[in-house]
Amino acid sequence: MDYAATTPVDPRVLRVLLPYFSGKFGNTMSLHSFGQEAKQALEESREVVADLMKAKPKEIIFTSSATESNNLALKGVAFANRNKGRHIIISQIEHPCIMECSKWLEKEGFEITRLPVDKHGLVNPKDVEKAIRKNTILVSIIHASNEIGTIQPIKQIGEAIKRKSEILNLKSKIYFHTDAVQSFAKIPIEVKKMNIDLLSASSHKMYGPKGAACLFVREGTKIEPILHGGGQESSLRSSTVNVPAIVGFAEACKIAKREMKKETQRITRLRDKLIKGVLEKVPDSYLNGHSEKRLFNNANFSFSFVEGESIVIQLDLLGIAASTGSACSSAKLEPSHVLLAIGLKPQEAHGSLRLTLGRWTTEKEINYLLKVLPGIIKRLREISPFKK
Ligand SMILES: Cc1ncc(COP(=O)(O)O)c(C=O)c1O
Repeated sequence: MDYAATTPVDPRVLRVLLPYFSGKFGNTMSLHSFGQEAKQALEESREVVADLMKAKPKEIIFTSSATESNNLALKGVAFANRNKGRHIIISQIEHPCIMECSKWLEKEGFEITRLPVDKHGLVNPKDVEKAIRKNTILVSIIHASNEIGTIQPIKQIGEAIKRKSEILNLKSKIYFHTDAVQSFAKIPIEVKKMNIDLLSASSHKMYGPKGAACLFVREGTKIEPILHGGGQESSLRSSTVNVPAIVGFAEACKIAKREMKKETQRITRLRDKLIKGVLEKVPDSYLNGHSEKRLFNNANFSFSFVEGESIVIQLDLLGIAASTGSACSSAKLEPSHVLLAIGLKPQEAHGSLRLTLGRWTTEKEINYLLKVLPGIIKRLREISPFKK
């Protein structure tokens, strides 16, 4: 129950990508037929990934991870547009790679506004509008929270950016980036309709392999590379292209397109059963995030008087993989910045548990979790120094 951390590669994906490790191993930059075979697989993959977000193939830049995509989006746009302004807007609930990248940009002389969210984790488009100034060059807001699953009103935020740009009569564009790592391939995304200029997605969160991700860069966007070299990926991301991983990423997109609707219905039902069961069976338990505007596979709870880490360890002993927050920050002992941003006190934030469902989660597993969790919380509360 930790599919938000990473997913297994779908066997159908694995079958398609394997030949590109040995038989079809060419370098996409080579002129000979091995290279051209790899190049063709790369370009076909680009079309498939673009199709799932209704972008043009040439607007997809393949990278190695969403951390890299997010760094490229922020640093690339910041440095390419620094003569127009140095102000960037993000939210207080971004993934650590956006948070840390922003801190680094601050040291480089950029100014960062970190917008608050409401108790459900929602950014108000009006707050975005208010925060925009004449020197704003970029807004980056996460599409769906990796911790609490809240889905942001991305289209409305994009509209607010356009509206304020017109009011301020800005000559240059304010770019809008969204980190869609947890939402891409789960909910329908149309970049143009949703007013998105840049979007990050990652293969290993959607049953593709690790080592492949992408950044959608709308045609005409002023952006600089952070890796310089042989000029691959329209000179925005030099490096020999990881063809097997990208072919797998594309196959995962094809499956998602075909199965998204059915999978959404199946997992939503299981997730709702899980939420209802936990809230009924465990006293002093709360659901974090929005009740409806949330990812269909995410349930994030707070349990008073216990620590999330202890729950995760107890669940692990029973063969259940869970998380306290995001995989990247769960090794830290500080409470989640996302839970603090939605107004939880540090002690409440420490008692959080994230359960994320996926393609192979079964009803039997949900029943098992519901059977063992109440007892775990009860036992932990008995020895808790925070108990009532
Ligand atoms: C919302 C979000 N953004 C970015 C990342 C980083 O992705 P990657 O593991 O591909 O670097 C993650 C991974 O946890 C994520 O959940």
